[in-house]
Amino acid sequence: MKTVVVSSPGKLLLFGDHAVVYGYPCIVTAVDQRMMVTITESEKDGVMYDVLGSDTRFLDAALHIAQSLWGNISHIAVQTKSQFSEKIGLGSSAAVTVSFLFVLSKYLSKPLKPIGLFNAAYKAVLDVQGVGSGVDVAASVYGGTIRYVMGGKEIMPIDGSVLPLVVGYTGIKADTATIVNDVKKKYEDNPEKVKRIFEAMGGLVDQVMPRLVDKDWERVGKFMDFNQEYLRDLGVSSEKLESLILAAKHAGALGAKLSGAGGGDCMIALVTNDTRKFVESAIEKAGGQIMHVKPNAKGVRVEV
Ligand code: MEV
Repeated sequence: MKTVVVSSPGKLLLFGDHAVVYGYPCIVTAVDQRMMVTITESEKDGVMYDVLGSDTRFLDAALHIAQSLWGNISHIAVQTKSQFSEKIGLGSSAAVTVSFLFVLSKYLSKPLKPIGLFNAAYKAVLDVQGVGSGVDVAASVYGGTIRYVMGGKEIMPIDGSVLPLVVGYTGIKADTATIVNDVKKKYEDNPEKVKRIFEAMGGLVDQVMPRLVDKDWERVGKFMDFNQEYLRDLGVSSEKLESLILAAKHAGALGAKLSGAGGGDCMIALVTNDTRKFVESAIEKAGGQIMHVKPNAKGVRVEV
């Protein structure tokens, strides 16, 4: 029986969260926890899913797009397996969409360039969620660490190979689309203030780029703190995020911020070899869970 397995990575947003939805640049890194999707030939008609939970919206949307590109698809069994929970905000929806479209292209022997995969997966995600910049889709497709502008207008690789990060999970699942819509409402109610915050965040991305390239972690950490101040002003941080961030900073982190939509999910802290274990234990003492992920992971790839 013909079987193809592919995997794609989750992501962490380093800079420019939310501002990216309004056309400002952001910086994202792919992480080494992956979403696997397997297609196996089946004797049965149609497409059968064997997936965790009951939410097949992203698979359905991806299948719909694949069928519009390549015609009717049938006699396959689809299995998903994730190395990370969909509850922690590492971008599981984007990763499952990217992996599924890519495994379909391989199974059907249809050529699909990275940009074609990005466009198809981003469309599927928008069909389901209605909102989003596509940054998580770009991280899953291209991997590495990239400077990104909404809709894939810019996808520029940067060296993030040795980024010394600690990741703490708040234990609280946040709904990205809800928070993105809350921010939209804030923007409509107070456009000048929110635009100022986004402009400042966009400026931060430009300023931090050379520091990242130089691995000037002290300065990169400071920029993380500034980014967090802007996210706080935007009202997307939370008590739990703040307590984990504070704990990390007190334990010697060079910088710390929420990563992604906010409201819950994960925070990240920039550390040194000397401070890593203190920061990790401080985050745990404050009620966070350490996620052992490495940045700069490979993009979507065939496994078998
Ligand atoms: C969510 O991971 C990142 C946000 O900027 C939303 C998006 O870019 O789609 C909050």
